[in-house]
Parts: sequence; structure tokens; C-alpha cells
Amino acid sequence: MTDSPSFADHLVAWQKTAGRHDLPWQNTRDPYRVWLSEIMLQQTQVTTVIPYYQRFLARFPDIQALAAAPVETVMEHWAGLGYYARARNLHRCAREVVAHHSGRFPASAAGLEELPGIGRSTAAAVAAFAFGERAAILDGNVKRVLCRYFAIDGFPGTAAVHRQLWQLAESLLPQRDIEAYTQGLMDLGAGTCTRSRPACERCPLTAGCQARQQGRQATLPTARPRPAIPERTATFVLLRDGARLLLERRPPVGLWGGLLVPPEGAVDAVLARLGLRARDCRSLPPLRHSFTHFRLTLEPVLCDVEAAPRLAEPGCEWVALEQAATAGVPTPIRKLLISFINQSSTRRRSADSAVARQAKATK
Ligand code: ADE
Repeated sequence: MTDSPSFADHLVAWQKTAGRHDLPWQNTRDPYRVWLSEIMLQQTQVTTVIPYYQRFLARFPDIQALAAAPVETVMEHWAGLGYYARARNLHRCAREVVAHHSGRFPASAAGLEELPGIGRSTAAAVAAFAFGERAAILDGNVKRVLCRYFAIDGFPGTAAVHRQLWQLAESLLPQRDIEAYTQGLMDLGAGTCTRSRPACERCPLTAGCQARQQGRQATLPTARPRPAIPERTATFVLLRDGARLLLERRPPVGLWGGLLVPPEGAVDAVLARLGLRARDCRSLPPLRHSFTHFRLTLEPVLCDVEAAPRLAEPGCEWVALEQAATAGVPTPIRKLLISFINQSSTRRRSADSAVARQAKATK
């Protein structure tokens, strides 16, 4: 059971005193004007729409004028509003109403929904404002209001939540005042029950709002589930020749394109590719790095090479160990090199002091 009477009663009373009453598409029952505004207001804010709406009406004052115009002229008057499929469908819809409905819009949500570019919610909004029909709207703002008021868990884009929201939207409709109720939902969603920092203290529905009672306004509606971030692993071979390290320039496209990095790949494959032999190889601690679309675990292997040539293979450079971290390498490689260099110098210092201790002891 829902407390539907009080939801609608509160909303209607609030809309009449605190809602919007002077938008250019209000105070008319002309379905052409109502329909035009509802199409423009899909995905576009009121302040952006107002000047377009006025210019559009001045050029196409009725459905006959719109249907008679070439689509290019319609597109010119839409240019800047975005989502241009809306304009093409608008024009197709006008032609269909003129050709098949004697220039008069069907006077029901069900009839309107048959026309190009008119979905279930838009059909309901036009039917409510132009014909006073008790029809439920459910746009993004209304979904947010309902998800919060009823503390509905689950992303509204999933079929089950979407179905539940439509059922609620239908069940909440008042017996009368459908125009004020529909406009109230729109006004509340746009100006009060906003996505971030909703103004609950001046919301007419605050007493019954479950999100408010549970302190969950910030997490309802449930966000779209994020796809799992793929995990990748890559081996980087730190080829060391005394105090030099081999860096290789990456191909220009792809990850780290054009930057210097230690050769990537399995140790044997890297050694064979570069014509090198290793005296000794050992794994170093791995390092994890997050990119926008994946996480990478870098697995470094340190190999001391035998008799490296002075000159490296094309695309490769022998770089002094101390300078490798600043040689135009990407951030995760820089971190990896810094940690390796720090560890080796710590080891060297403790080895040096052990030698010094031993020397002192044998004196
Ligand atoms: N958004 C969608 N339809 C609207 C309307 N009629 N008034 C204000 N904002 C809206």
C-alpha cells in the first residue's frame, strides 16, 4: 500500500502556491504548443529551451506551418539545442498529424504515443496538460523523486526497478488537478529534489520521504552499476649492465606511446629479442597502478646482463641508473624505478657499512 492521497495532495497544494506558473508553454491547452515544449524539454533545461521555443513558434506558429516547412529549415531552428533526432522526429510527427489526423493531435496518451518521437512519459505529459487526462509521467527527475520518497533500491535503468517505478507513478495519480500534479512533479524534481544537495527543508513531501527519514538522499537513486575494472599484469625486465639500465621507446600508439620504459615481456623472450644474456635474474616487488579503464600490476624482474654492447638495439637506450627515473618514463615506471634505486642504494649502504664494520674489527 502507498500513501498515495497524501503524496498527491501535498504536491498539488505546493505546486499551486510555490510552483512555476509563467513558463511560455503554460496557460495554454494548445496541444501543438504543449507537444513542442515537451519535445524541447527532453534532455534540455528550461532556461535553454525558452528562447528556442519562442523563435520556433514565431517561425512555425502551428502544426500546418511546421509540416509544410522543409526539414532543413526545421533543423536550422533547432540548431544548438542538440539531440537532433528530436527535430527530425518532430517534423515527421507534424507531417503525420497533418496527413493522417486532419492536423489535430490524438486527444489521448495512448494515441499520442503512436506518433514519431513521443514516448510514454511525453505522451502522458501532453495528454495531461492539453487534455486533462490522468496519465503518469516518468522522466529522470520523477524517477529521482520516487526513488527517494519510497527508498527504492536498485538502478532505475534495470527492467524490474523501471517497472516498479511506472506502477508507483500510476498508483499515485490524483483524481483531479492532474495538470498541477504533473507540473508539481516536474517543478519538485527540477528545483527541490535535485540530484545533489536536495532542499528537503522546503520540500512538500518531506514528512513521508523515506530517503529523508533514513538519511539516504545522497545515495538514492542507486547509481548505475560500474562495470568491473579489468585487471592486467605485465612483466618489465630491468636489464642492468653495471650502473646502466636499458630503456626502450614504446611504439607511438597504445599505452605510454612514445615514452621510454624497461622492455616488457617474459624474461627469456626479452633477452632473445635484444640479443642479450643474463648472469642473474630475480623478481622485485610488484607495483599496482590504476588507469581509467583498467588496473595494471607491474611485475619487475631485475637481470644483470653479460657483456652488453656499448650501443643498444635500435629504439633502446642504456641510461645511467640514477637518471633512469627522470628519463621521460611514465609515472608507474618512475615509481617502480625509484623504489628499485632506493632499495639498491640502501642495500649498498648496509653492505658498505658491513664492510666497514668488518674492516674495523680486523684492524
Ligand atoms: N520538463 C519537462 N516538461 C516540463 C514542463 N512542462 N515544464 C517544466 N519543465 C519540464
